[in-house]
Parts: sequence; C-alpha cells; structure tokens
Amino acid sequence: MTGLGVLVSGSGTNLQAILDAEKRGELGAEVRLVVSNLPGVRALERAQAAGVATRVLAHRDFASREAYDEALARCLGEARVELIALAGFMRIVTPRFLQAFPGRVLNIHPSLLPAFPGLHAQRQALEHGVKVSGCTVHFVDEGCDTGAIIAQAAVPVCEGDDEAALTARILVEEHRLYPAALRAVAEGRVRLSGRRVVIQSRP
Ligand code: GRF
Repeated sequence: MTGLGVLVSGSGTNLQAILDAEKRGELGAEVRLVVSNLPGVRALERAQAAGVATRVLAHRDFASREAYDEALARCLGEARVELIALAGFMRIVTPRFLQAFPGRVLNIHPSLLPAFPGLHAQRQALEHGVKVSGCTVHFVDEGCDTGAIIAQAAVPVCEGDDEAALTARILVEEHRLYPAALRAVAEGRVRLSGRRVVIQSRP
C-alpha cells in the first residue's frame, strides 16, 4: 500500500475527505502522517480522531525555507511516506523538497488553473466576473500553482455569490476530486506526456 503524507495548515476538510475515502477502501493509499506548520489547527484534530500520526513543524523554528523543507522531508521519510498531498498547506515548498519526492507531490487549488493562481482564488474569480470556476489537482513544480494538471472539476458562478458561497460550492467538488486523483497516482495509473497527464481507468 502506498504511504501518503498530508500537509495542512487549517481546517482540513480535504484531509477529511481523504481520510473518509481511505476508510471506504477508495484511496489506494494509507495516510501515514499529517504535518502542520501551525499548531492547534482543526486539521490536526481530524487526523487524531482518525488515529493518524501527526507532527507540528513550526516554520518559525527554522532559519531558512531550505532548513524547514529538509526537516519536513526527513520526518515524512521516517514515516515511510512515498506520496504527498498538500491540502491547504500555506507554504511554498522548495526545489530541495521536490527533489526528495520527484513527481510525487500533489496540490489542490480552488480555481480552474491556469486562471487565478495564488491566494484568494475564489475572490479573484468573482472580481474577474467569470461564469464558471472550479478546482484543479496538479503536480507541484517549482512555480506557484503551475505544475501539470491531473484533474479538474467545474462549478457555475451564480449571480449573488459572495466568496463564502463560491468557496463552499467549489469545496464539494474538491472533496470528490482529490481522493480520486490521489488514488489514480497511488495505483500507478497516471503518466506524464510532456505537460499532459494521461490517466488510465481502473481495470
Ligand atoms: C482548499 O480550498 C484548497 O483548494 C486550498 O486550500 C483550501 C483548504 O481547505 N489549497 P481545507 O483545509 O482542506 O478545508
């Protein structure tokens, strides 16, 4: 079974969806460690409630991003983690971290990339006036939300939406899409062809 590590900083609803998929036998991976850069966040409580090991690695305790990422990679390696899901992890990882897990780090972003990368994607979508938005699961590369796209789901932007309403509509899709994408990668059904990701369906 593939060992999965989930990196979080906040509420952890995507972590919950991943844990629920694992419980149903639909993840193709085992969550071996949840790491937060912030103490006391809801995501850590969710992991503990599911009986999953947790670590808090506070970025303030490290002199540089590289030193932080080295410690992060070490503790994930010690927990026999082979695949990593960033799930609301509010830090940009360094090339050194990516080299430790080449092609094995995924992220979920609340827009249809390449539109609206970075912070406050839902607010950016509302301000731009798009009629459709959604979420994207992608491989993490050295840029900000620029890696190869694994899966996307679209939702309508409705008249009268505020940021909270659009965020909630997108989250429903995130919770379905992320576990499915992680499963495809964990089961070795995902292949890169240039920038295009090809996913084989389950046998
Ligand atoms: C999600 O919207 C995700 O797309 C973004 O951060 C948010 C995390 O939410 N990267 P949660 O902590 O999983 O509830």
